[in-house]
Amino acid sequence: MRSLDGETAVVTGASSGIGEAIAHHLAEAGANVVLGARRLDQLDRIAADLAAEYGAAALPVETDVTDREQVDALVDAAVSEFGALDALVNNAGVGLGGEVESMDDDDYHTMTDVNVDGMFYATRAALPHVRETQGTLVFIGSFAGHHPRPGNPVYAATKWWTRGFAHSLEGQVGDDGVAVSVINPSEVRTEFGGEDGEAFEDRFEPGDVTDPAAVAEAVGFALAREAPDTVSELNLYRRDKFAEF
Ligand SMILES: NC(=O)c1ccc[n+]([C@@H]2O[C@H](COP(=O)([O-])OP(=O)(O)OC[C@H]3O[C@@H](n4cnc5c(N)ncnc54)[C@H](OP(=O)(O)O)[C@@H]3O)[C@@H](O)[C@H]2O)c1
Repeated sequence: MRSLDGETAVVTGASSGIGEAIAHHLAEAGANVVLGARRLDQLDRIAADLAAEYGAAALPVETDVTDREQVDALVDAAVSEFGALDALVNNAGVGLGGEVESMDDDDYHTMTDVNVDGMFYATRAALPHVRETQGTLVFIGSFAGHHPRPGNPVYAATKWWTRGFAHSLEGQVGDDGVAVSVINPSEVRTEFGGEDGEAFEDRFEPGDVTDPAAVAEAVGFALAREAPDTVSELNLYRRDKFAEF
């Protein structure tokens, strides 16, 4: 197993939900964690928690992943603070609206800007560094990236893009010793869905759907694979998910 102790990971969307849980999991394993998201106050609070709970080195960096220069600066900050980059966790993502006919341009562009462009920018910036460390690129996909999701076709399409991009990239960089992992959760109790509706943490009772910490453990499992192994894809669904079909 690859030890995460002393390794450095960038986590996008680290200010809440799954990203925050990933930050905790990695910090507990001894990693230096670089936290990227727009809400700096949240990142500062989480960095303080990581330092207090695990003695971890955590660097909050205000980042809008739709802005290429900010994403480049996030990765640069990680490398200049800690000297190397072992992992990128491409986690920032949003789900807005649902019905295609009534979807406005803003919701469409926000989803594609964050879920598609943001993952591309972060991956491109991190790649030279994780090639040096034989590190890992993790993509948080979704059940919605595996199956048609009539509830929100645009969101689903961004997650199909994530998987298509990640696995194609896996073919491009696997030879260089870089691991690429896609982690697909079904519903997780987070702020997700709350921007224009009811957040999943309010819609679902604890225990009814996946806890963010379980997704974080799956990410930790992927990051701990030693070459030549990789977790190409891991589906973490609730047990009754297929009962919907
Ligand atoms: N919750 C679920 O049921 C579920 C299921 C499958 C997959 N996922 C995926 O899991 C990932 C994390 O979602 P979550 O459930 O943890 O939801 P969440 O609690 O709403 O977290 C979303 C994160 O993305 C960040 N973000 C949004 N826009 C951003 C931007 N422009 N630049 C930088 N960061 C941005 C948010 O930070 P700021 O607002 O501070 O920028 C926040 O930290 C997403 O990719 C989502 O699609 C979630």
